[in-house]
Amino acid sequence: MASTDAGVTGPTRARIEARTLRPDRWWIAPLTTFIVFSAFVVYATWRAFSGHHYYSAPYLSPFYSPCLTDSCVAGSSDFGQPFTWWQLSPALIILIFPLGFRMTCYYYRKAYYRAFWLSPPACAVAEPHAAYSGESRLPLILQNIHRYFWYAALVVAVVLSYDVILAFRDADEQWGHMGLGTVFMLVNVVLIWLYTLSCHSCRHAVGGRLRHFSKHPVRYQLWTWVSKLNVHHAKFAWYSLFSVALVDLYIYLLANGTITDPRFF
Ligand code: FES
Repeated sequence: MASTDAGVTGPTRARIEARTLRPDRWWIAPLTTFIVFSAFVVYATWRAFSGHHYYSAPYLSPFYSPCLTDSCVAGSSDFGQPFTWWQLSPALIILIFPLGFRMTCYYYRKAYYRAFWLSPPACAVAEPHAAYSGESRLPLILQNIHRYFWYAALVVAVVLSYDVILAFRDADEQWGHMGLGTVFMLVNVVLIWLYTLSCHSCRHAVGGRLRHFSKHPVRYQLWTWVSKLNVHHAKFAWYSLFSVALVDLYIYLLANGTITDPRFF
């Protein structure tokens, strides 16, 4: 419903002059979200457009994986270079999928609606907007595309898992290598999988639209597992956001020669 009647000043709402009656520091969560998200967006935008220092053999930054253009540095294109006509940074071809997945995520929507649009900034805190249309019309109705981004995110997670396997080779492509970068990439991909599999769309995909769980024991078991992960989805959203940025930063520092990679074996 798009109506001024639907806002907190609507005729059916209680007349309360105070913006909120909450005595706690409710603003800490949205302010933290605002700062962290803004920092991530600035960092990710810089890295995605820079087009360099994303590969230090055998490590490929998750922002650039898979690297699909003929401008990709030697050794970084494990899935070929089909986009020979692409002139911009290779990251811009594939980032739309993980970015779209996160932007339309149910948890992130709640977080950035609160932190950036103050709609509302927190529970029991009046929002500044007089009208409310929810996600029932353009542009926010497009958030429903999330379930399709989930399928794309599965492919991305598989590609990143493959990158981790390759990170067990050294720069000469000999197996049996493990550096600190391998560990970082491994932790990152575990968090990416936890985030992807705890998604609400995943839960619906494995257990939704069933009349009787008893007739679908396998899907019921999957749904049970996903439901347990789903409880922690917000945590996985944050952890994987940090890990993906930290892995990229680590590889950036390796690639530009600022640091060297400690090797365990
Ligand atoms: S609900 Fe967060 S990724 Fe699907």
